[in-house]
Amino acid sequence: LKRIVVLISGSGSNLQAIIDAINSGRIHGQIVQVISNKADAYGLVRAATAGIPTACIDHKTYSSREAFDADVRQIIDDTEADLVILAGFMRILSAEFVKHYSGRMLNIHPSLLPKYKGLHTHQRALKAGDNEHGCTVHFVTEELDGGPLLIQAVVPVTSADDEESLQRRVHTREHIAYPLAVELICSNRVKFSTKGIYLDDKLLPDSGFR
Ligand code: GAR
Repeated sequence: LKRIVVLISGSGSNLQAIIDAINSGRIHGQIVQVISNKADAYGLVRAATAGIPTACIDHKTYSSREAFDADVRQIIDDTEADLVILAGFMRILSAEFVKHYSGRMLNIHPSLLPKYKGLHTHQRALKAGDNEHGCTVHFVTEELDGGPLLIQAVVPVTSADDEESLQRRVHTREHIAYPLAVELICSNRVKFSTKGIYLDDKLLPDSGFR
């Protein structure tokens, strides 16, 4: 079984979706550690309830990003993790950290990348008058929200939507897309290379698969 470490900062509903998928046999892997940079992240409660070891590394107690990253990396590497999953982890990671996990670190972002990198994605999609929006699971590289795309899930945007309703709709798709992406890696169907992402030995388009 692949050994998975999940990094969170908040509610952890994506973490929960991955826990549920493991428990129902949809992901052939095990979460060996959950790490939060916030002590009050509800995801820590979810992890503890599932019997998963938790750690909190408060970034505010560090004088540099590199020092924080070094301690997070130490915890991850002590678990002999195969895969690092960013699930609502709201810290930018240093280039050195990202390089160390090249090809084995995934992030989920609440937009159809390359659109709307960064924050306030739902608000920006509404403001632009987009009629579709969604989420993307991608490999993490040094370019923020810029690594190769694995899976996108698309939702419609209606004229009745506000930020909250759109966020809710995207969230429900995140909970489907992320477990799928994690299982593709756990079952060795996905390969990361300099040429791009291979799924079952076929090169995916730049947009990943939808
Ligand atoms: C998710 O919507 C995820 O896409 C987003 O944070 C939320 C976490 O929710 N991630 C980012 O914005 C990364 N820049 P959760 O804690 O309930 O899983």
